[in-house]
Amino acid sequence: MLKLSSPAKINLFLRILRRRSDGYHELASLFQAVDLCDSLYYSFSKEDQLTCTDSTIPTDRNNLILKAADLFRRKTNLDFKVAIHLEKRIPIQAGLGGGSSNAATTLWALNELSGRPATLEQLMHWSGEIGSDITFFLSQGTAYCTGRGEILRPLPALKKQSLHIIKPAEGLSTPEVYRRLNASSLQQRDPVVVLADFIDGHFNCFNDLEIPAFAIMPKLAQLQSELKSAGFSVVLMSGSGSAFFCLGEGDQKGKWESTISDVQHFQASFINRLPNAWY
Ligand code: C5P
Repeated sequence: MLKLSSPAKINLFLRILRRRSDGYHELASLFQAVDLCDSLYYSFSKEDQLTCTDSTIPTDRNNLILKAADLFRRKTNLDFKVAIHLEKRIPIQAGLGGGSSNAATTLWALNELSGRPATLEQLMHWSGEIGSDITFFLSQGTAYCTGRGEILRPLPALKKQSLHIIKPAEGLSTPEVYRRLNASSLQQRDPVVVLADFIDGHFNCFNDLEIPAFAIMPKLAQLQSELKSAGFSVVLMSGSGSAFFCLGEGDQKGKWESTISDVQHFQASFINRLPNAWY
C-alpha cells in the first residue's frame, strides 16, 4: 500500500486575459501549494474501487481520481486494477484545487506503484487532458501558469509564509464563475510585471475572478471586508472561490475568529516538494 499527501493550492495572483474560442479562458497565475492536505491510499486490487471519508463526494468514474487512473493506464498500456481510499480534508467548491491535486497525486502514485514507466514530463503533459489545474500539482509547488492553466513555468520556492484559509459554508461552481466573467471589463494588469514583483519579494495579490464570484454570492464581499478589518495584510479569494486566504497575523490574535461565523478555518503554510519526492 502507498499513502501520499495531496496538497491544496492558492493563487497568489490570478489574471484572466481573454475568453478563447473553445470556451476556456486564457489566464496567467502564480500558483502556490499549501500544506492543507488530503491523504490518499493506493493498492493493486482485483477491481477498481474508490472510497472516500466524505459521503457527499461522488466516487464514480466521473471522479478525477478514477479519470487519472484511466488516463495513466491508457497512456502506458498497462492493465491493472487499483483500490484507492481518499481521506478528504480540503473543502470542495473552494478554489483550492482539491480534486485536481487528487488527480495529480494519483498519476504520481500509479507511476511509482508500476515501477516508473513514465517520466515526470510525460505525466505533466498527459495531465492537461483531464483538467486545467492538474499539471501544477506535478510541479514542485510554486509555478507561474498560463494557457488554460496547464502551461507551467516552475519557480524557485518563495519565502515560506503561514496563512489562514477561510471557507464559507456555501461553495462556488467553477464553470458558473467563469460564465459570469466579463473578461473585457477587467483591469489590464501585465502579469509578467506582477510576477517579477513577486520574485523580488513584493506581493501584489489580486484575483480577477472575485468580481463574478462576488456577483453570484454577494456575502463574499462582506466576508472579505470583515477579514480585512481583522488586520490581515492580504485577504484574497483563491481560484474561482469560495475560499479566501489571509496573509499576515490579523489583529488581536485569534479574536477575529469569534466574530466571523459559519466558516471553516484552516491554518496552513506554503509547501514545496523536493525534486524526486512527493509532498
Ligand atoms: O479544466 P477544468 O475541468 O478544471 O475546468 C472547469 C471549468 O472551468 C471549465 O469547464 C471552464 O468552464 C472553466 N475554465 C475556464 N478557463 C480555464 C479553466 C477553467 O473557462 N482556464
